[in-house]
Amino acid sequence: MKAEADPNLICYFGGQYVPLGEARVGILTHALHYGTGVFEGIRAHWDEAQQELFLMRPLEHYQRWKQNCGILRIVVPPSPEELCAITLELMRRNALRTNVYVRPIAYKSAERVGVSTDDQDAFAVIALPFGDYLHAEKGLHAGVSSWRRIEDNAIPARAKICGAYVNSALASDEARQCGFDEAIFLNESGHVAEGATCNIFMLRKGSLITPPVTENVLEGITRDSVMQLAQRELGMQVVERPIDRSELYVCDELFFTGTAVGVAPIARVDHRPVGDGSLGAVTRGIQQLYFDATRGHLRTYLNWLAPVYQSRMKPEQDQISLVG
Ligand SMILES: Cc1ncc(COP(=O)(O)O)c(C=O)c1O
Repeated sequence: MKAEADPNLICYFGGQYVPLGEARVGILTHALHYGTGVFEGIRAHWDEAQQELFLMRPLEHYQRWKQNCGILRIVVPPSPEELCAITLELMRRNALRTNVYVRPIAYKSAERVGVSTDDQDAFAVIALPFGDYLHAEKGLHAGVSSWRRIEDNAIPARAKICGAYVNSALASDEARQCGFDEAIFLNESGHVAEGATCNIFMLRKGSLITPPVTENVLEGITRDSVMQLAQRELGMQVVERPIDRSELYVCDELFFTGTAVGVAPIARVDHRPVGDGSLGAVTRGIQQLYFDATRGHLRTYLNWLAPVYQSRMKPEQDQISLVG
């Protein structure tokens, strides 16, 4: 899905709440030329029955963002708690009562030519109404990409570095040109890494398996949530180990996870059915658990959520009491 960017939507830019249409950067901005930015993606889910919007694991997203900004030596001055408060305020100012995608971005902001960086950093937070990213109701058709996942010693895949997303854009474009819904990356060792914008899980012989974080993957927060749900709620064994390409063809179930995609079943991979081609019971179970946890239906996981409208305090008074 392509999000509509309403120019009147309020975003946080240059330390102020301003309309999106007024949040502009110059043509010589360092990050535009060299990809020297780090972004984040956070979801908020609207629950109609409770008339509440729930921001999903915002503290962990902002902790991850600030850590990964450190890889590029970009400084984001507010604390993760202050960034949560800004985000909650943003959604209230826009009176958002639908599913939302929050896009924080920090970048090298000097306006000059030359790749070496300096200490001119800037950041912004944008909250957009955002529906389904992939339409996965009947299961996706995924294709193994001819593009390899970037290596940690070239551009670290664990951080959402703007320039690194050329790798994802190439794979995603190729996948769609070939009639697939989403790409699956192999890394330079030939092991399965992840999707262009999501992590991957495979069910094989009763175990849920996902590549370890040292296989050039993004350290997904949805990946972590799904691992917790599968272990605690379904009593499943979750194994982090390298996955061979051919295991994709003989596994029982396969699904993607990510902030934008949620839990998205894969029904076919490289023109082969996954399992018997129907949506697997474990995938459906995890999908339902993830849906319930993100909408505040599961007491155990309420500490993942920051409700937007429950507290109407000013941003500096917002009490974020989330446990990691
Ligand atoms: C390449 C890549 N892998 C995995 C993910 C999933 O990470 P998370 O669950 O933290 O959104 C993303 C999210 O945007 C991504 O871009």
